[in-house]
Amino acid sequence: MSRFITKEKRTHYCGSLTGADEGRQVVLMGWVHRRRDHGGVIFVDFRDREGIVQIVFNPEAGEAVHGEAHKIRSEYVLAVKGSVRRRPEGMENPALPTGQVEVVISELEILNESKTPPFSFDDEDISENVRLKYRYLDLRRPAIQKNLFLRSRLAIATRQYFNDNGFIEVETPFLTKSTPEGARDYLVPSRISKGMFYALPQSPQIFKQLLMVSGFDRYFQIVKCFRDEDLRADRQPEFTQIDVEMSFVSEEDILQMMEGLMAAIFKACMNIDLPLPFPRLTYAEAVNRYGKDNPDVRFGMEIKDLTPIVKDSVFNLFAEVIASGGVVKAIKAEQASSLSRKDLDSLADFVAIYGAKGLAWAKVNAADWTSPIFKFLKPEEAAAIGRAMDAKEGDILFFVADTPKTACDALGNLRLHLGKKLNRINPDALAFTWVTEFPLMEYSESEKRFVSTHHPFTSPFLEDIPLMTTDPGKVRARAYDLVLNGSEIGGGSIRIHRKDIQAQVFSALGLSDEEARLKFGFLLDALEYGAPPHGGLAFGLDRLVMIMTGAESIRDVIAFPKTQKASDLMSDAPSRVSIEQLMELSLKIV
Ligand code: AMO
Ligand code: AMP
Repeated sequence: MSRFITKEKRTHYCGSLTGADEGRQVVLMGWVHRRRDHGGVIFVDFRDREGIVQIVFNPEAGEAVHGEAHKIRSEYVLAVKGSVRRRPEGMENPALPTGQVEVVISELEILNESKTPPFSFDDEDISENVRLKYRYLDLRRPAIQKNLFLRSRLAIATRQYFNDNGFIEVETPFLTKSTPEGARDYLVPSRISKGMFYALPQSPQIFKQLLMVSGFDRYFQIVKCFRDEDLRADRQPEFTQIDVEMSFVSEEDILQMMEGLMAAIFKACMNIDLPLPFPRLTYAEAVNRYGKDNPDVRFGMEIKDLTPIVKDSVFNLFAEVIASGGVVKAIKAEQASSLSRKDLDSLADFVAIYGAKGLAWAKVNAADWTSPIFKFLKPEEAAAIGRAMDAKEGDILFFVADTPKTACDALGNLRLHLGKKLNRINPDALAFTWVTEFPLMEYSESEKRFVSTHHPFTSPFLEDIPLMTTDPGKVRARAYDLVLNGSEIGGGSIRIHRKDIQAQVFSALGLSDEEARLKFGFLLDALEYGAPPHGGLAFGLDRLVMIMTGAESIRDVIAFPKTQKASDLMSDAPSRVSIEQLMELSLKIV
């Protein structure tokens, strides 16, 4: 019975067997998913990467096989030979793709034993820490394997698309100098140059621009990026970008090329035909209508500005907020009577997270409102608000009076919260939106100066350049993000390729020539040697796969991810190093 592997070759994957294989002799190799001993007959759910098939050990197979079969346990590795038969009537399992058949085993070899795994693969809520510690076992689970197969198809479709469109894939260094994406760098000490550090790239931004200066014209790379930032469900310290740069192009060329990429990916991976072109919103529209620069447009509930209607309101609170430069904005939850009084009151705490000082609500009845603010309003004011909101009986209105930023922020988040709570979001929808015309810079309260919204090589709208000295916050950038179902899956811009404009931007950012030179000197030098007009974009590959697979966490689409605390529970990284290693690097832990 030994040396099965050298004697026999695997003929099929477990998960590939169907009724059409009836009568066939097959050799399968894989893992014991589950074993059921029915007195004489032993049934095993036998698993490989393509799925599960039921295999059957009958006593008639003889003691050599049947006796051996008694020894097998969960996750043992087996090689088996047998014949495929249709399951007896009534014994089919419609839940399994192979559920019409089973394999009656005539030969068995146990290729390896397994300790009892620390969790059952069928369990729905295994603690994530246990899963991550035994990630190699977690990765045996069909649900996670499916995600990684899709991820692989996505990478292949991406390379195919770029190859078809004349792009060249170029690798850029990991041991490099700090790049300008604005997160904290991961640093790597140099042994040879004592006291010096490399930074791991937050993106290949500068290198891809240099490749344009070098004349490669169309570049892409599927590349790891490293950012030491606070982690969330859709952020990892190392993540993957589909990074792109093109020369002699306008926004239009880039957006079209990227829409083509999305169409190719969704076709190849999910056989979905995406309608092109994608809708576009300017940054200002996105923030005014959805309260966010990454709007989820799968549902309505848009924010309306009631400021003109209530600016002279007899309700002091509204009038006062507006008089001091604020706004009154509102959203409408249609037919939302499922929300209880308690729900409504608790929403004030929810918007407080976003800095709103209050939340007023109104249940719209046939003739009046049930609302804490109804008594403060004149009937004709309530009627005017009702008309502006197109309010119908059964709808609930929510009002925030605050600064424009806080009102948008609070209502944008409330909108998302209610969209989920009231089931207004179709989970199967794919809503792409470009967001364009971002502000070039934003005022940073902490740094007391303007900082780049994207990075300092983003080109301003040429017609806005005069504003750079008078009203820097108003300058629009030739930058765009691609948003899918409320998640920013990509972003990029047309870059500055001329020295004079770059100098103006640095000066508006309060960066002196020396500082700029110290940080990005080699790019600035390169821009002086005939840099072509160029621009590009980068997609977050992990986020894209998350949405395509419906994964709740970015960790479910990465083979070996890190926890929220940026550690790898399996390998125990980060970890201490020996004193000798530190000495070699001239480092001391303080
Ligand atoms: P940006 O910083 O917007 O642009 O990054 C591009 C995309 O990468 C994804 N992303 C992340 N995904 C997972 N974990 C993270 N920590 C993380 N951070 C970002 C997002 C984002 O849209 N060099 C520019 C691109 C350019 O201008 O061409 C850049 O890196 O989906
Ligand atoms: P008060 O007179 O403080 O009881 O407020 C009356 C109603 O207005 C209450 O429902 C408050 O929640 C609401 N409210 C208070 N501040 C705001 C605000 N900034 N925006 C919207 N509603 C508010």
